[in-house]
Order: sequence, then structure tokens, then C-alpha cells
Amino acid sequence: MAEVVRVYEHSTYRDVYVVELEDGSTRLATKNLVPGKKVYDEWLFKLGDVEYREWNAYRSKLAAALLKGIKELSISSGSKVLYLGAGSGTTASHISDIVGLRGRIYAVEFAPRVMRELITVAESRKNIIPILADARFPQKYKHVAEPVEVIYADVAQPDQASLVLLNSKLFLKDGGYLYLAIKARSIDVTKEPDEIYRREIDTLKVGHFEILDVIHLDPFDKDHAMVYAKYFK
Ligand SMILES: C[S@@+](CC[C@H](N)C(=O)[O-])C[C@H]1O[C@@H](n2cnc3c(N)ncnc32)[C@H](O)[C@@H]1O
Repeated sequence: MAEVVRVYEHSTYRDVYVVELEDGSTRLATKNLVPGKKVYDEWLFKLGDVEYREWNAYRSKLAAALLKGIKELSISSGSKVLYLGAGSGTTASHISDIVGLRGRIYAVEFAPRVMRELITVAESRKNIIPILADARFPQKYKHVAEPVEVIYADVAQPDQASLVLLNSKLFLKDGGYLYLAIKARSIDVTKEPDEIYRREIDTLKVGHFEILDVIHLDPFDKDHAMVYAKYFK
């Protein structure tokens, strides 16, 4: 990997960085909350005393949405986030870097094998609270999580929008934001949304969400779009 030339905060997204390398290329990155430690096979970059972790858009749909220019990143230092379908913690770890130790991520995942990996990540990242539960039944973790400013949902299930609504009612603050990764069949979802996709968005609208942006994640992820929406209770 080439030497780091400079690092600057992203012009649109707070607490997200752009690392410029000697060979002229750039990488999206977050400040590593746990210096020296990787979570997946990402690159670590050091400039002065600060370490940055490459945020790989082929591995994280949120990074892909940022590189594709989604309107805003409503997650920043101190944010509280409910993450549905946290998987082994790839994206959650970058959100953990962003929100820092004043923030919290309630990371819901129902597959025990994946949860074991998530717990390993959470052991060194004290702002991640792993919750082994089915996101279709949010009452079961009502006593563990608290009201949040953002829900990030990536469960890759057909009923994901209704699952988001159930969670929003319990946990999302009035005026809070949603990022929902939707599996879409059509290539240009903004021009020709397919049926599944439209249905998910309609469900969100009925459930008090205003759609602020829809971004197709191609070429980083050919099958998904990211919906960004605002919640009015
Ligand atoms: C696409 S993967 C998540 C990848 C992760 N968001 C990332 O970017 O690092 C979807 C995850 O959602 C989990 N999942 C699916 N349905 C769920 C449910 N009803 N409740 C909790 N987790 C669920 C799966 O086990 C899987 O780990």
C-alpha cells in the first residue's frame, strides 16, 4: 500500500475521512477507535498520532452509499444508533468509529454463529451493545436498547420495511433518521423502481417516513439500494 500523503474530513459527511495516497488514489476512512486493530481485511493508515481504517465500499453498503453521494450522513460523534442485522460487525465497526465513546450502537443480530464474531468486535469497542434477537420482535430487547436518533437496517429479508416500522415505533425519536438497505432487482432504481422495492418504500411512507433519498449501490453492490428517510411520530 502506498504512503499516506494527507487526510482530510469529507466535505459532506462529518467524522468520515478521505485518505490521499502517494499514488494519487483516495480511500474513504474512519478514525480507528481501537488503534492497531482491524475488524475485517481493511487497511490501516497512520498519519502522525492518528490511525485511520479504510472503509471498503465493496464490504459495507453504508460506505457504498457515501461514495455514491447519499444526501446526508445523520450519524456523527455521540449519535445513538439501532442497527438491525449487524452481521459480524463490518459496517457496525465503522459506525462505532464515527459515534465514538459518547455514542452507542445497539446491534441486533439473530444468527448465533455471526453473533459470536460480533461479540469479539464489541469486546474492544465498548460503544457496541450486541443483542442476540430477532428484529421482528423488538419488544424482546425493549429493556436493553434506548431511544435512538438513527435506525440502520440491513437484514436482507422480504419483510424488512415492516420490521423497521415495528422498531421505529419503539425506539426511533421523532425527527430521527433511517438508512435501509433494500435488495432491488432493477439497475437504475431511481428511474424504474421494481415492485418489491416500491412496496418497501410505500410501507415506509404509510409508517410515517418521509423519503429523503434513494441511492443505488452499483457498482459496489449490484443488488441493493439505500433508502434514507426521516421519521415523524
Ligand atoms: C447483509 S447481512 C448484514 C451485513 C452487515 N449489515 C454489514 O454491513 O456489516 C444481514 C444480517 O441480518 C441478519 N438478520 C436477518 N434477519 C434478521 C432478523 N429478523 N433479526 C435479526 N437479524 C437478522 C442475518 O443473520 C445477517 O447476519
